[in-house]
Amino acid sequence: MNNNQPRPDRILEIANGYWATGILGAAARHSLFTHLEAGADTVDQLATKASISERGAQTLLDGLVALGLVELRDAKYRNTAEAATFLVEGQRTSLSSFAKLKLGEMGKLANQIDVFRAGGPIADAMVEVADNPHWEEVVPAIAAQSVPVATIAADLLCLADAGEISILDLGGGSGIYSAIWLELNPAARSTQLDWGPVNAIARRLLKEHDVADRFTCIDGDFHTIDLGTAAYDIAVYSHVAHQEGPEDNVAIFAKVRQALKPGGTLVVCDYVVDDDRGGPSFPLIFASEMLLKSKKGGTWRRADYQGWLAQAGFHDVSFHPTPSPATLVFAR
Ligand SMILES: C[S@@+](CC[C@H](N)C(=O)[O-])C[C@H]1O[C@@H](n2cnc3c(N)ncnc32)[C@H](O)[C@@H]1O
Repeated sequence: MNNNQPRPDRILEIANGYWATGILGAAARHSLFTHLEAGADTVDQLATKASISERGAQTLLDGLVALGLVELRDAKYRNTAEAATFLVEGQRTSLSSFAKLKLGEMGKLANQIDVFRAGGPIADAMVEVADNPHWEEVVPAIAAQSVPVATIAADLLCLADAGEISILDLGGGSGIYSAIWLELNPAARSTQLDWGPVNAIARRLLKEHDVADRFTCIDGDFHTIDLGTAAYDIAVYSHVAHQEGPEDNVAIFAKVRQALKPGGTLVVCDYVVDDDRGGPSFPLIFASEMLLKSKKGGTWRRADYQGWLAQAGFHDVSFHPTPSPATLVFAR
């Protein structure tokens, strides 16, 4: 057989991609990774701990072995290092809630065909609605993704030793950037602008981190709220640029430039696409999520950020990879 002949395997795997979402989401819902980490390592033990059938437990474990999230040795199962770090519940880096959220979103994929025809979200899939309860579900689930990124940003900007700095987080969600940065720098203060119910979630996280006394919130819409002049040393815009269209991103960047002190830094975190839109794969595919959920969002190229930030009055723009699919963009 000619080894260069195209094979159907990969296409079958892609077409059945929902199997992976289903197995990961169901395993997370039944806390299998948490039970494995606590020492349950056989099908019957895991079935009992998770209160599921043995047939269901065996099927989930088969799927998890196939996905490379669980290892099988001498008839005993255990988490891989990846699953132990990112899928056990209760850890700061846990993506378990995210896996559950994605399982719940699978039904929305049925809208995909219409979305491509219409060029935008259909009915209730749109998320850019004031005080959308969608965010209250999403922000705690995505917080773990920002832990390594916020930590790297703090290192690159030497935030721990920066003294009495003032931080503004636009669409700060769970408050994870403020929580990490205020913990690292005991003289820093942070303000988060987000919808009221989301800010309430952030306040709880900051309290858990014992830094709530240096955290304030502004409830409302970042498109319309005045951000002031020369008030902040650092501004954050994490996983927000992809829900906004080009004009809104430029307008927000210009408001942020004015709100920053001279020499202050805007930190953008998002899925950034190469200028020729040839990669990387995660940001390219994520654009379909924004077509499904946002009026004008997408995944933007490095050149887009460079152009928009220059228009908004920033002169020095740099891009930094992270150990996640997101890129950090610093603008001064
Ligand atoms: C994808 S989440 C990102 C959360 C956080 N920055 C992070 O990286 O984990 C987007 C956040 O922006 C907030 N948001 C969206 N549109 C907004 C608006 N017009 N005004 C204020 N906040 C908004 C949402 O409530 C949500 O918290």
